[in-house]
Amino acid sequence: MAPRNHSARLLAGTALMLLLAAAAAAQQGCAPAKFQSGRSFQRCTALPVLGASLYWTYHPVNGTADLAFRAPQITGGGWVAWGINTERPSSMVGSSVFLASPSAGGAVSVLMTYLESTSPSLTNGTLKFDVPVAPVAEYAGGTYTIYVTVELPGNKTVQNTVWQAGPLSGGQIAAHPMSGPNLQSTMRLDFLSGGGSTGAANSMAHRRNLSAS
Ligand SMILES: *[C@@H]1O[C@H](CO)[C@@H](O)[C@H](O)[C@H]1NC(C)=O
Ligand SMILES: *[C@@H]1O[C@H](CO)[C@@H](O)[C@H](O)[C@H]1NC(C)=O
Ligand SMILES: *[C@@H]1O[C@H](CO)[C@@H](O)[C@H](O)[C@H]1NC(C)=O
Ligand SMILES: *[C@@H]1O[C@H](CO)[C@@H](O)[C@H](O)[C@H]1NC(C)=O
Repeated sequence: MAPRNHSARLLAGTALMLLLAAAAAAQQGCAPAKFQSGRSFQRCTALPVLGASLYWTYHPVNGTADLAFRAPQITGGGWVAWGINTERPSSMVGSSVFLASPSAGGAVSVLMTYLESTSPSLTNGTLKFDVPVAPVAEYAGGTYTIYVTVELPGNKTVQNTVWQAGPLSGGQIAAHPMSGPNLQSTMRLDFLSGGGSTGAANSMAHRRNLSAS
């Protein structure tokens, strides 16, 4: 009896270790990355579309997250953005976003703007949550990285996140494509556990529940 229990425990232990290893591997679903000024982050997730990745460290003590959003510009050059929708899932409208685009002299500027409609005014400084540290962005080899510190809205660890990439027109920010991956770039993300569900899944669940009710 005792020996059998022992081996059962051993087996259970092995299974648990395999599970933990699998979980760790899944969590590292993004390539190891280097960041400027010795920045590092505890977690990362490869976002499902637009070749983007999100890296972050969540601080439960003050409800803030330090993060880096990294994404390639579209072919021909353009802008990228990351943000949080404080109003609804699976939507750009209602999001407060950090948008990186080229500025004079090869620098990158960051616009912090609330998207009030599908044709937003892109007014700077209109975010719906606090940003205790000014964001910065860099550009290298066709890829932008935006470094942001946010107070997670409502001090909640689960947030509706959005991201995007679009073109410039005459040096100005122009509308992103209205099809394919550019409409799938939302994710409900748990900054504490690292778990996420994508916009597509969310909107399907939403539709199901609408039709069920
Ligand atoms: C956020 O919630 C945590 C507990 O989860 C708490 O310790 C912290 O004080 C809260 N922060 C703010 C700014 O309310
Ligand atoms: C939040 O807490 C972390 C960990 O203690 C600290 O490093 C960070 O500076 C704090 N952020 C703010 C905005 O107070
Ligand atoms: C937005 O305002 C901040 C200062 O609040 C500034 O640092 C930043 O460059 C501005 N962004 C743009 C695109 O003008
Ligand atoms: C949809 O409805 C089901 C059953 O009523 C519920 O369990 C589930 O949490 C709902 N899902 C969403 C996304 O609201």
